[in-house]
Amino acid sequence: MMRTRPLKVALLGCGVVGSEVARIMTTHADDLTQRIGAPVELAGVAVRRPSKVREGIDPALVTTDATALLKRGDIDIAIEVIGGIEPARTLITTAFEHGISVVSANKALLAQDGAALHAAAEQHGLDLYYEAAVAGAIPLVRPMRESLAGDKINRVMGIVNGTTNFILDKMDSTGAGYQEALDEATALGYAEADPTADVEGYDAAAKAAILAGIAFHTRVRLDDVYREGMTEVSAADFASAKRMGCTIKLLAILERAADGRSVTARVHPAMIPLSHPLASVREAYNAVFVEAEAAGRLMFYGPGAGGAPTASAVLGDLVAVARNKLAEATGPGESAYTQLPVSPMGDVVTRYHISLDVADKPGVLAQVATTFAEHGVSIDTVRQQGRPDGVGKEASLVVVTHRAPDAALSGTVEALRKLDTVRGVASIMRVEGE
Ligand code: NDP
Ligand code: HSE
Repeated sequence: MMRTRPLKVALLGCGVVGSEVARIMTTHADDLTQRIGAPVELAGVAVRRPSKVREGIDPALVTTDATALLKRGDIDIAIEVIGGIEPARTLITTAFEHGISVVSANKALLAQDGAALHAAAEQHGLDLYYEAAVAGAIPLVRPMRESLAGDKINRVMGIVNGTTNFILDKMDSTGAGYQEALDEATALGYAEADPTADVEGYDAAAKAAILAGIAFHTRVRLDDVYREGMTEVSAADFASAKRMGCTIKLLAILERAADGRSVTARVHPAMIPLSHPLASVREAYNAVFVEAEAAGRLMFYGPGAGGAPTASAVLGDLVAVARNKLAEATGPGESAYTQLPVSPMGDVVTRYHISLDVADKPGVLAQVATTFAEHGVSIDTVRQQGRPDGVGKEASLVVVTHRAPDAALSGTVEALRKLDTVRGVASIMRVEGE
């Protein structure tokens, strides 16, 4: 039975993502009606700058008073695409208090206050959907929350930030500079309002927290995620990576401990072999591997940022939430029953690529090797190269380790820095995907 009375939608934010949501809602209105079983009507659009020309949006719908829009009594679903913590958090809470289900793309807010927002949604018998918050267009939240709900996810590893992947890809493939590549990513609408969130890894860490919570049915907050950005990655690092048959990607890695009693969550740049599927993820694409006990390895791949791709995920949620409204039901809420603790980064076990500037004289290699051994870190390969600017005086030493705990590696590096013969630690990068 088709309902003729429309479901009314408040669009909170009409920027890169919101404008595409409005466009698709308008151009695909008939299809959406058929798929939902009722028309969805754009009933109001809240923005900051009302005078800005917005193609395809009836100016009569535009308001700067998002709160009044939510309180006016006829809104069924709110789509929050403002971003940031406030006023988004207060608006979502207001929506729930007024019987309005919410679709949001706001990973920063969900990673920080997801538990409270889920609780508010549940208390009011409403939906909170957020497929677009992680990995843009890629269906990932719903497959993990629903399709894999009967399996046990042990590991998630992937590229979840389009901006940084775009920058790293340009630096690697065209030799572009960091700032030039960041400017291009910003112009294409991939970057956050403050791109520091992208390049310093906060955006990926927020997505990692959300995914870890879903994967391991526990609560993982942004602060629980170890984070390193990609601003320190240099052309020299790419050259080193190339010599090893690798490239460099900013990865999010979430793991259940072997004994199943804890989890780890981290975001950092890492070298990965060129033969690894993540190495060929170009531009602003994202890709995520999910390893589940029964399913095995699954890979999710697609556009990770941008207005239209993200709007696709928002619209998918809109359809789901609208169907739930008509059925007077709600979708799955937060599942955090395992209450697994998040272990510190020191417990993570992986491989490392360490580049040292050392004195070029007898015994240095042995001294360095002994320092690794004293900290229980086993060396896989060592490559020494005299520096063109200091033959007979200085050399570059590149050490690649076997798998070792991060705490042991930190101890090793601390001790190396104290050696007279080590002039500097040029770079430390984890090696993943082998
Ligand atoms: P934009 O900065 O392009 O858009 C933000 C919108 O919010 C603008 O329309 C702005 O109004 C409006 N706004 C800002 N403050 C207020 C306020 N106080 N009241 C009402 N409206 C306000 O951001 P994006 O569209 O890029 O991102 C939106 C959300 O989607 C963020 O959470 C982001 O993290 C997420 N996201 C973005 C992706 C992307 O590729 N861009 C991908 C995945 C998720 P005005 O137009 O007047 O300035
Ligand atoms: N700034 C984010 C990115 C948008 O580059 O991935 C998508 O979440």
